[in-house]
Amino acid sequence: MQDVTTLSFMSLAARYGGPDVFWTEYFRVHGASRPEKWILDSIRLNPTPIPVVAQVIGNDIPALVRTVRELQRHPVAAIDLNLGCPAPVVYRKCAGGGLLRQPERVDAILGALRDAVQIPFTVKTRLGFEDVGEFDRLLEVFARHPIDLLTIHARTVLQMYRPGVRYDFIKRAVQCLKCPVLANGNIFSPAQARQVLMQTESRGLMIGRGIIRNPWLFDQIRASQAGKPGPTPSGRDVLAYIRALWEAEITPGIRESAQVQRMKKFINFIGEGVGGAFLHEIRRTDTEAGFWSICKEWLDHDRFMPLEPISTGLPGVVSPPA
Ligand SMILES: Cc1cc2nc3c(=O)[nH]c(=O)nc-3n(C[C@H](O)[C@H](O)[C@H](O)COP(=O)(O)O)c2cc1C
Repeated sequence: MQDVTTLSFMSLAARYGGPDVFWTEYFRVHGASRPEKWILDSIRLNPTPIPVVAQVIGNDIPALVRTVRELQRHPVAAIDLNLGCPAPVVYRKCAGGGLLRQPERVDAILGALRDAVQIPFTVKTRLGFEDVGEFDRLLEVFARHPIDLLTIHARTVLQMYRPGVRYDFIKRAVQCLKCPVLANGNIFSPAQARQVLMQTESRGLMIGRGIIRNPWLFDQIRASQAGKPGPTPSGRDVLAYIRALWEAEITPGIRESAQVQRMKKFINFIGEGVGGAFLHEIRRTDTEAGFWSICKEWLDHDRFMPLEPISTGLPGVVSPPA
């Protein structure tokens, strides 16, 4: 995830169990691009035993081929092509999710990258640009190339993150592709993980926002799949996680308000699992003392925190925990 799955965040996530595989945020590829140093660092300096897949985004075939050749000189488990980014600044340039409007172009890119990638080559997609009806054509394109894994975020690009994840389309991909498929989208708890695995019959799951909110999630899912009890973090455990994030994300010499601002990137997700006025209060502070006072007020307790989004459906308003 952009600006989230940095080397420091990956290292921290691994301390809580972590995923089986990490994906980097995407390397932006164009005619004059060079792989971004900080993303390369998340590969080269990975202190964990967890393999890392390098993700690229772009539509310039010679530049993509040059970049994936270079990335393969680093310890990457696979190269992944992003066909899902919904940011207008990206899709308007016909990269990421924007490419889903042009299946022939996707076809050409997959052909060139498959030839250039000597290690596993994987793809991350959405169901289409504006309509799930586009998915069948995309599946035909994916089936033409011996890709090693397809991850499906089961929404369209224009849907962004809105409700209505179509896991039924993931099952369709599982049934008609030879490669393994990972299901992605709104998996926030071991129960949801079990349900999505059952419904889609996918080989596994990719989890994004859930791990920011709940770093215990991967261990909770592994335990649940093994029929064992998993970690049950308390408010104080969440407080300790936020402290560890602060330490991991601190930039020496940075202004106090900028550090608090950086933390809000993560707290925006964590706060959805805390409920009440926690997020409302955090968003209004820009001092370190204010930040910790609010965190303590809401989290200095021993009660279990499921850390799933607690939403009333109203923007910015969340229900108090039960
Ligand atoms: C802050 C943020 C940054 C993201 N950056 C990327 C990215 O660089 N590459 C990518 O494939 N997906 C990216 N995503 C999308 C997630 O990988 C995932 O597909 C999406 O959030 C849905 O899964 P989730 O419900 O588990 O979060 C990003 C998501 C968020 C919230």
